[in-house]
Amino acid sequence: MTQYAVVGDPIAHSKSPQIHSLFVEQTGEAVRYAKHRVTSAEFDDFVLSYFAGGGGGLNVTLPHKEAAFTLAQHHSPQALLAKAANTLWMENGELCADNTDGKGIVRDLQENNGVELKGKRILVLGAGGAARGALAELIETSPANIVVLNRTFSRARILQSDFADAYLLEIYDYNHSDVQPCDVVINATSMSIGGEVPPVHSSLLAADCCYDMMYSKEPTMFMQWARDNGAVQVLDGLGMLVEQAAESFFLWRGVRPDTAPVISALRDQL
Ligand code: ATR
Repeated sequence: MTQYAVVGDPIAHSKSPQIHSLFVEQTGEAVRYAKHRVTSAEFDDFVLSYFAGGGGGLNVTLPHKEAAFTLAQHHSPQALLAKAANTLWMENGELCADNTDGKGIVRDLQENNGVELKGKRILVLGAGGAARGALAELIETSPANIVVLNRTFSRARILQSDFADAYLLEIYDYNHSDVQPCDVVINATSMSIGGEVPPVHSSLLAADCCYDMMYSKEPTMFMQWARDNGAVQVLDGLGMLVEQAAESFFLWRGVRPDTAPVISALRDQL
C-alpha cells in the first residue's frame, strides 16, 4: 500500500480523500489516501519528512500551493507558469511539482462538456492563483484569444508579463468598455464564495459557455447571471475538481480513472 495525502489549512472539508477513494475502488490500485492539516510554519518539514518516510505523493491545497512550488526542485511547465503547485512526488531523489488545475478545467470543458476551445475567444475573470492555474493550460488549447479582466489592473499586468514568453494575454480592468464579446467566460475570482458576481458587462458574453470555478449545491450567482444573459451552457467547477485529482492520480500511478461516475457521485452529495 503506498500512502498519498492532501495537505492544507483548513483541510476538514476537502473532498480529495473521497475522490481518491472512489478512484482506488474503481482502479484497484494499492493506494491509501489521507488528509493532514498542516500550518504554513510546518509545511516544508512536513513535506520533506513525508517523502523521507516513503510517501508516494501529496496534493497541496490552500494556502500552500506557492510554498509547494518553492520547495520543489523540478517543475512542470504548468507549475512554472502558475508559480504554484498542487501535486508533489519524488523522482530520482528530486521533489517534483505539477499544477493539474489547468488540465482539470480544460478536460472538464472539452471532454466532459464538449466545449470547444480551439479558435474561441476565452475570457478569464480574475488574476489570482486560480486564474494562473487555469491559464497555464488554457493557452495550450489554440484559442483565438485569451482576455483577462481583473479588478486590480497591476496584478493583471504581472500575470501578463509572467506569461509573455508562452502567450500574449489581453488584459483589462472592469472599467474597460472596449472588449469584444467572448465565447467562453471563466469565473476565476473568489467572488462566488461571498455570493457576488464579477462586475463584468453582459455585452462581453457571446457566449457559448460560462464556467464558474466554484461549485455549490445551488447555482452560484455568476451562473444565474450567465443564464439570465443568454449563455448556452452554464457549468460549475465540480468537474474541474475531480479532473485535477484524476490528473494527479495519473501522474502518480500511470492509471487514468473514469471521472464521470465520480463527478456524479459527488454531485449527488452536494
Ligand atoms: P485564488 O487563489 O482563489 O485565485 P486570490 O489569489 O486571492 O485567490 O485571487 C482572488 C481573485 O478574485 C483576484 O483576481 C481578485 O481580484 P484582485 O486581484 O483585484 O484582488 C478577485 N476578487 C476577489 N474579490 C473581488 C471583488 N470584490 N471584486 C472583484 N474581484 C475580486
